[in-house]
Amino acid sequence: MYVLGIESSCDETASAIVTEQKKVLSNVIYSQISEHGAFGGVVPEIAARAHLEKIDLVVAKALKDAALDISEITAVAGTCGPGLMGGLIVGSTFAKTIAMAMNIPFIAANHIEAHALSIRLTEDVHFPYLLLLVSGGHCQLCVVHGVDRFEVLGKTIDDSVGEAFDKIAKFLGLGYPGGPALEKEAVNGNDQAFPLPSPLCRGKSCDFSFAGLKTAVLTASQGHKTAQDKADLCASFQKTAARILAYKTKQAIDVCRSKNIQLTVVVAAGGVASNEIVRRELRKVCSSCELSFSAPPARLCTDNGAMIAWLGVEKLRINQMHNLNFAPRPRWPMGE
Ligand code: KG4
Ligand code: ZN
Repeated sequence: MYVLGIESSCDETASAIVTEQKKVLSNVIYSQISEHGAFGGVVPEIAARAHLEKIDLVVAKALKDAALDISEITAVAGTCGPGLMGGLIVGSTFAKTIAMAMNIPFIAANHIEAHALSIRLTEDVHFPYLLLLVSGGHCQLCVVHGVDRFEVLGKTIDDSVGEAFDKIAKFLGLGYPGGPALEKEAVNGNDQAFPLPSPLCRGKSCDFSFAGLKTAVLTASQGHKTAQDKADLCASFQKTAARILAYKTKQAIDVCRSKNIQLTVVVAAGGVASNEIVRRELRKVCSSCELSFSAPPARLCTDNGAMIAWLGVEKLRINQMHNLNFAPRPRWPMGE
């Protein structure tokens, strides 16, 4: 089984081919960083045009790298949401056109579900597992009971943690995308230099709040302008954010235990899960709860086509395919 995946929900035009045996035969990513860099964030209209310009080249390269002809593809999965409408239209229409022309199944991929299941592409992880999903648009904890069954335990009541990384990085002039730039800046910083608040970290709630922490960082930066101050602030914010994620993960583990859900493992996915300090704090808290922790390799945490293709494999196995008139959904909660 060769499944072609196409991803275009935000600022990466990506395509990959994976097999049911978890082989990633190709994984092509065209990043639009240079197009959006000058604006300090993703400009939807520029993103849509860039997807349109690159999508055929990216898919052709995915086929070439996998040494496959399009006639050998078993099925095609395309991201249909959530995300920016322009990009979703480009990618999903391209995927549907291939499915129609080659007379093969089409799978309408939910981007968040693809992040959630991506760990099963790289490791033999079984259900149910606890998932911390931390990306630019999402921040939530849920139990993954099956390919299409997700139980949300908590989510952010304001910003996602990725958004906090991005906005702070932009404010400090670190560029875009903010997460990796901030992680790099923090390497030479003292993570104890600035005491910062950890909102919603007293009770047992699994919900997150990052707006207050973000504002506290922006306020603390005033009057602290040296290069060392900047590094210290980045390190302090990153450590605080990682600790909040770990604290909330512990609350979610407790909820699972109280509900008698026998977790196999704790998983992190999404762009922020590629952050080394975040991974370290999560590993620590899981080990204190005698649970193992897993996350996909960094290149599969951030947006990619392989996770979309893998979702296609998972959906095909349970016989879930979609009609070609499936309309893209800029808002599309997981499991719906
Ligand atoms: O999953 P993703 O690639 O796209 C979405 O689905 O949103 O996640 C992107 C987010 C951005 O906010 C980006 O700044 C953040 O993930 N990110 C990171 C790192 N790499 C990406 N945040 C912290 N540390 C990183 N190394
Ligand atoms: Zn994503």
